[in-house]
Amino acid sequence: MKSMTNIDSFGHVRGESLFIDDLDIKRNTLFALVFDSSKAHGKIKNLDISKAETIEGVIKIFTYKDIPGENQIGGILPDEPLLAENLVDYIGQPIAIIIAISEKIAKKAKAHIEIEIDELPIITGAKEAASQNQFINAPRTIKLGNTKKGFETSDFIFEGEVFTNGQEHLYLETQGAYAEPMENGNIKITSSTQGPTQVQKGVAKVLGIGMHKIEVDVIRLGGGFGGKEDQATPWAAMAALAAYRLRKPVKLILSRHDDLRMTGKRHPYESNFKIGLSKELKIMAFEVEFFQNSGAAADLSPAIAERTLFHATNSYFIPNVKTTVYSCKTNLPPNTAFRGFGGPQGMFVMEAAIAKVAHEIGVTSKEIQEINLFQEKDKTHYGQILTDVESRNSWNSAIKEFNYKKLYKDITSFNKKNKDFKKGIALMPICFGISFTNTPMNNARALVHVYQDGSIGISTGAVEMGQGVNTKLITIAAQSFSIAPEKIKIETTNTTRVANTSPSAASSTADLNGKALLKACLTIVKRLKNLAAKELKVNVQEISLHDELVYVKDKKSTLTWKVLIEKAMLERVALTENAHYATPIIHYNKTDEKGHPFAYHVFGTAILTSTVDCIRGTYTFDSIKIVHDYGKSMSKGIDLGQVEGALAQGIGWMTMEEIAYDKSGMLLSNALSTYKIPDIFSISEDINIKPLDTKGNEMAILKSKAVGEPPLMYGIGAYFAIQNAIKEFNPNYKMNFHTPMTPEKVLMGLYQN
Ligand code: MTE
Ligand code: HPA
Ligand code: MOS
Repeated sequence: MKSMTNIDSFGHVRGESLFIDDLDIKRNTLFALVFDSSKAHGKIKNLDISKAETIEGVIKIFTYKDIPGENQIGGILPDEPLLAENLVDYIGQPIAIIIAISEKIAKKAKAHIEIEIDELPIITGAKEAASQNQFINAPRTIKLGNTKKGFETSDFIFEGEVFTNGQEHLYLETQGAYAEPMENGNIKITSSTQGPTQVQKGVAKVLGIGMHKIEVDVIRLGGGFGGKEDQATPWAAMAALAAYRLRKPVKLILSRHDDLRMTGKRHPYESNFKIGLSKELKIMAFEVEFFQNSGAAADLSPAIAERTLFHATNSYFIPNVKTTVYSCKTNLPPNTAFRGFGGPQGMFVMEAAIAKVAHEIGVTSKEIQEINLFQEKDKTHYGQILTDVESRNSWNSAIKEFNYKKLYKDITSFNKKNKDFKKGIALMPICFGISFTNTPMNNARALVHVYQDGSIGISTGAVEMGQGVNTKLITIAAQSFSIAPEKIKIETTNTTRVANTSPSAASSTADLNGKALLKACLTIVKRLKNLAAKELKVNVQEISLHDELVYVKDKKSTLTWKVLIEKAMLERVALTENAHYATPIIHYNKTDEKGHPFAYHVFGTAILTSTVDCIRGTYTFDSIKIVHDYGKSMSKGIDLGQVEGALAQGIGWMTMEEIAYDKSGMLLSNALSTYKIPDIFSISEDINIKPLDTKGNEMAILKSKAVGEPPLMYGIGAYFAIQNAIKEFNPNYKMNFHTPMTPEKVLMGLYQN
């Protein structure tokens, strides 16, 4: 089947696609604005909303006292109030919700709320928190072999420290929800969430009513990137609380400033590593301690920490490994899921350790990377035996197809000839596990209706956020029924039609929902084939469906799809099916920290080259060449877009996006004037992404592998391509691993002595 183009393309370009703020709102709609903490830590001594409430047009100001159910929205641990009670833990923490007849009036009222906070000591750094025993939960360790013995047999041993900064999601559509009271105390919420069930569950808890009374509907998101996996819930809960109490529809949309200040980001990590290698450059032992800056509440931090541990050796087999993670409690907004879900933070430390060794002993990182790449049947530190390993395959393809030798030679000769400009090159292999690390979450459902005119409506738990999952779902259904994609509609994601869903995350949305959909479609196809066999008086094995026509023994019959469906109605054949899919094989035991958590892994290798302007500290990427393992891609254009987008986001994280809080816990990078994200010129004019030729993986839907997150980690190579150029200029450069590699840092590195 030919790959479909994204069904949303035209709507997006014409501005016709609907987001929360585009919805026609009901006549009586009220507007909500959040009053948040201006202090990062303290006791609320006094909160006075009386003046604000008297302003004309203000309907009501809600505090925690107005919550009929539980004031609790913690997903993994119950440690996060919806609205602060007596304590505030970060700047931007919601304290009250102002409801007014317009946003303008709500803003005016906000200035009239008075609050007195007795300040308490503030912690903003992860190691700082650890030194004061401020943790979210107990640390976790995953081990393999015996690192002590591994270091004893090592010829080279090096240690180092690493810092990776956070990252702002910067979804185009800010957080928001629209809540409407329905009859009998029911509530309908249209939310910009990756997790409709998370919202339904959170709202039920806050309102103290059953989940059945809450319907959550998601049209699509203007981007999520992990930022709406858990953190869409509070805004929906606030809108729902007001709608429930006032019996009026309530709209709550965060302004960009509020969104930047109030929501969590990618976790910054501070880490220590120790690495040991043999003379032959085999990594014999690797120890790493991760200090995750979790922010003021758990949110998804424990799950993210777990994935950091799983990806701590990136694409390398190491016989002796000890990885430990500490989730550290700080006075920042709770940090959260972000494309890669802790994996990138783990992989960066591994690459930093290799770069350090290479620098110290005078070899290239490439020599170390190459020798240690995973091979078929290698056992990871978490116990999974790797199969269909493409590490060496993608590495060798990249080196050969993109003529690494020539790239390297050209760079070497350029560097010999030039003083003010230096070039650097880096290779970045990736290996990313596909499945929610939390095994029970790996399930999905699909509801398929074939309407009596032969057209089809599909509901699943998948949320479209720009990643193109709806187009993939149509592809699956169109292929199963062999009908035109135009006859198929993907309905909104709605908790009333598909319940108990996992969030659209972990790059697994198409796999999980697509497999459920395939199952439902094939059940209906089977019924229709039986009917066709009866009608045509042939054996059912001889029946097949092609291009809206029934075939018998691969020959056209007179029975069309449309007539077949009409007959199905007359014969009272069920044209609706609901199917459930749960990933087989996977399991994990958190007590012994061993198992088989991933359905499969995605592999690939990137080669990045950079030029550094050694007067100014600025840099460009001359070329980025990638061999990526798509399996058998079902949507080539969409998947290419995912690789390009993730790559840009990874490069942004590594080189320019600099989250900054001051000592008082205030976000300094609170606008796009102070937070720089990559544009088309920041990446490279010469990007070449080639698919790795493989047989594909049965665990992936139609053998088309998950693609959403893995390519972000190619961006890690950008840091090292720049660092290698700095090394060419300054023989005194001391290796340091502190992201992002901004031009300021480059300049300091160039002239360090
Ligand atoms: N692509 C776009 N355009 N917008 C997004 O918000 N989110 C990323 C990735 N690609 C995202 C995206 C993240 S964090 C994940 S987990 C996956 O898409 C989720 O979708 P999938 O499971 O369908 O790959
Ligand atoms: N990835 C993304 N989201 C998740 C995961 C994961 O592995 N586990 C729980 N939520
Ligand atoms: Mo993606 S971080 O799993 O939403």
